[in-house]
Amino acid sequence: MTHQLLLLPGDGIGPEIIHEAERVIQTLTRTHGLSVELERGLIGGAAYEAEGDPLPERTLALAKAADAVLFGAVGGPQWDTIARDKRPERGLLRIRAGLDLFANLRPATLAPELAEASSLRPELVAGLDIMIVRELTGGIYFGQPREQAADRAYNTMVYSRAEVERIARRAFEIARLRGRRLCSVDKANVLEVSEFWRETVTAVSADYPDVELSHMYVDNAAMQLVRAPKQFDVIVTGNLFGDVLSDIAAMLTGSIGMLPSASLNEQSRGLYEPVHGSAPDIAGQDKANPLATILSLAMLLRYSLGETTMAEAVEAAVGQVLADGLRTADLHQPGTTPVGTAAMGDAVIRALEKTAH
Ligand code: IPM
Ligand code: MG
Repeated sequence: MTHQLLLLPGDGIGPEIIHEAERVIQTLTRTHGLSVELERGLIGGAAYEAEGDPLPERTLALAKAADAVLFGAVGGPQWDTIARDKRPERGLLRIRAGLDLFANLRPATLAPELAEASSLRPELVAGLDIMIVRELTGGIYFGQPREQAADRAYNTMVYSRAEVERIARRAFEIARLRGRRLCSVDKANVLEVSEFWRETVTAVSADYPDVELSHMYVDNAAMQLVRAPKQFDVIVTGNLFGDVLSDIAAMLTGSIGMLPSASLNEQSRGLYEPVHGSAPDIAGQDKANPLATILSLAMLLRYSLGETTMAEAVEAAVGQVLADGLRTADLHQPGTTPVGTAAMGDAVIRALEKTAH
């Protein structure tokens, strides 16, 4: 079966990391029998410059037609002062909403070779394997009413029962495939919306008696993540709390440059992106770490295309280059070999070719 893939490089380091992922895709077609048709589209600042809109109609149409989207990054200082609805980030928020990508999966795993790269002591993080399931199309990011007036501004944190139920179900299902423990994070001691979230998740848990559900306030969760992160298996939380907690979890792994993510809708079509941003300060210098994007491609193969063997091959190839001691600038440690973006891509491709059948 031929899969339809859309590449959205975006801004900053986006084009160079997507380029490496594209080379991995080409390798898979040569060596592992992957069959894909690739399209590419404009998003973010690049789309704003070309067409005055961070998410042109054509891009959304291509995304809707695709089986999956591989996304680089958006944003940069040159667009910080333009109208909010034209900013690059708005392109990302609109494509999430437009494809109804309510389930954002952000794994934080630590390759054994990188335990020393974490800011926490190696024994606290070695073998870390957390999955954050962030609700992505609701909550305060999208709540109405919202307004910015001269003397005050406000946003609204709102969740409907249907919205909480579907993200809770997705999280319980993911927990079932892992350690069967789910921690729901909220601020139910203060916010009505969180109390409602907690009640709704608890009600859904009746359908998943084999998964152990716990609840935690978000401030405590932030603390526990840096105190004893291995206590967590799957975390489910709302849009804003998930944004913050996933950055904390990312840093436990030493570099945000390693972490992939998937944003899925009800049909498990999805958009896959590295958790890091567009890093304009290092763009175009062959410094960016392409591994988060390559690992996002692995998630794409697994969750949207059902190509589990290929997903595992890509992940194994990434493990191999780390074991070989290759490190981009974000991960340099004594005794390792510094490489640039393209050389890292080359190494992954060589490792992948060795597993060809
Ligand atoms: C993320 C980012 C985005 C978010 C921004 C760029 C809109 O921080 O994906 O975590 O807040 O969701
Ligand atoms: Mg974020």
